[in-house]
Amino acid sequence: MSRANPGVAGSTGRAGSTGRADIAVELQGITKRFGDLVANDHVDFDVRRGEVHALLGENGAGKTTLMRILYGLTAPDEGEIRIDGRPVTVRSPKDAIAAGIGIVTQHFSLVRPMTVAENLALGRTGGFRLDLERTRRQVAGASERFGIRVDPAAIVGELSIGEQQRVEILKALARDCRVLILDEPTAVLVPQEVEALFMTLRRLVADGLAVVFISHKLGEVRAISDRVSVLRRGAMVGTVPGSTDERELARMMVGRPTFGVARSEPTGGEAEVLLRVSGLRAAGRHGLPALHDVTFEIRRGEILGVAGVSGNGQTELVEVLSGMRHPAAGSITVDGTELAGATPTAMMAAGVGRIPEDRHASLVADLSVADNLVLERLDDFTTRTGLDERRIREHATMLIERFDIRARPEDRVTTLSGGNIQKVLLARVLSRQPKVIVVAQPTRGLDIGATEYVRGELLARRAAGAAVLLVSEDLDELLALADRLIVLYEGRIVGEIPAADADPERLGILMSGRGRAA
Ligand SMILES: Nc1ncnc2c1ncn2[C@@H]1O[C@H](COP(=O)(O)OP(=O)(O)O)[C@@H](O)[C@H]1O
Ligand SMILES: [Mg+2]
Repeated sequence: MSRANPGVAGSTGRAGSTGRADIAVELQGITKRFGDLVANDHVDFDVRRGEVHALLGENGAGKTTLMRILYGLTAPDEGEIRIDGRPVTVRSPKDAIAAGIGIVTQHFSLVRPMTVAENLALGRTGGFRLDLERTRRQVAGASERFGIRVDPAAIVGELSIGEQQRVEILKALARDCRVLILDEPTAVLVPQEVEALFMTLRRLVADGLAVVFISHKLGEVRAISDRVSVLRRGAMVGTVPGSTDERELARMMVGRPTFGVARSEPTGGEAEVLLRVSGLRAAGRHGLPALHDVTFEIRRGEILGVAGVSGNGQTELVEVLSGMRHPAAGSITVDGTELAGATPTAMMAAGVGRIPEDRHASLVADLSVADNLVLERLDDFTTRTGLDERRIREHATMLIERFDIRARPEDRVTTLSGGNIQKVLLARVLSRQPKVIVVAQPTRGLDIGATEYVRGELLARRAAGAAVLLVSEDLDELLALADRLIVLYEGRIVGEIPAADADPERLGILMSGRGRAA
């Protein structure tokens, strides 16, 4: 890989005119294949000192792979990495750290029972010595310089996700990193934490650091980046200024113009209540109370959004409403019929359609698309002599067409992309015209095209008079689709806001449990 003489390459790299001299890291012609799949296809990318350079792309575009190569976690098939103009071979994270590269991913590498200071002392390259005093001074210094506020004496496991992320950033800085890679850092944060992270990043680049900011969210990329490079299906589409407008960025990302989903006018407050939940209580995974006195109603033609940081009762709520979890107390009525404690089949028969968070668990991966589409209603497709294969196939052909599923009836579900798997699930649930739809994280992991499709279908159901409970960790999604929002915190509803009055800041306060008095 390092074919050039390092010394020579180094001198030409540095002697360069303005711009090139500022390049901290350069990736050239990087190719990475996984079997037939080309995750990175001759990708060129560089990041300069003093800039935030966003790496934008849809899910699966190859962003993480490219950065794993830079950090020595994955070996490229082709291509070259240059640091400060010199070709280098990065065989392991140790090589990368020594070369001044740091990474913060969504999966933190911290030791949870230890304090912040202990974690930082451990992370330092100098070895294992717990130089706590020095670390404390360092935390204080970083807090002052970059606004990264963390208590060095705090136990990591007791910190919020946002605080743990700050510790990861400090850890990279403590190792003298000069290039900081953040892989989808905002995915785990509430809006206020995103703002704090951005302030920190601005101060880091003002101090000369080079930052690679990975995201698939256009708004935040525009808010923080000096330059944006767009990856699509493994290939670099181009690099543009951070001020490039969202439509153009979206077009680069998906390869065609995109259109937002249009929400029709609300159907009005006087429509009948289709789902009424009152005093609902349920235990969670470890028998601990997960829902406390949850009460709300959803009218015909209304989408009620459920906001909250994950793990605050959303999963349990969805499970109870679809009969998968037994409530400890409370009432659930669907169009007037009491259903608390009913089985999933009874819930379905009463008109509840469930599109769960774990879409894979709801489908049988080894069965065909056609079989999966009738899985919940085999009785309807059974004659005296057994399953009516011809009708199952016709049914599938009709739904494939109607829901724009890119597959054949006989294809096994395991061969489908995430977007098509979600469409199969939507087709199965929505084709039964449920009165009440309970849906969780409907677009997580999907590309823009599939996301728009799924959101459009939910809005179409709403327009057709269904009551929809939408659980999502994506605030933009909630704000785009919901008529009204409730916020769950530690299993309780801590706020209810009409979507028109909801803004990310207000939601963020409620989601962090600080808005209860308001
Ligand atoms: N270890 C691996 N083995 C096989 N395929 C992989 C592996 N890592 C990533 N991929 C595939 O490479 C493509 C790019 O993935 P990734 O770099 O994670 O994308 P992004 O971070 O942009 O979402 C995806 O299709 C992914 O499934
Ligand atoms: Mg990724």
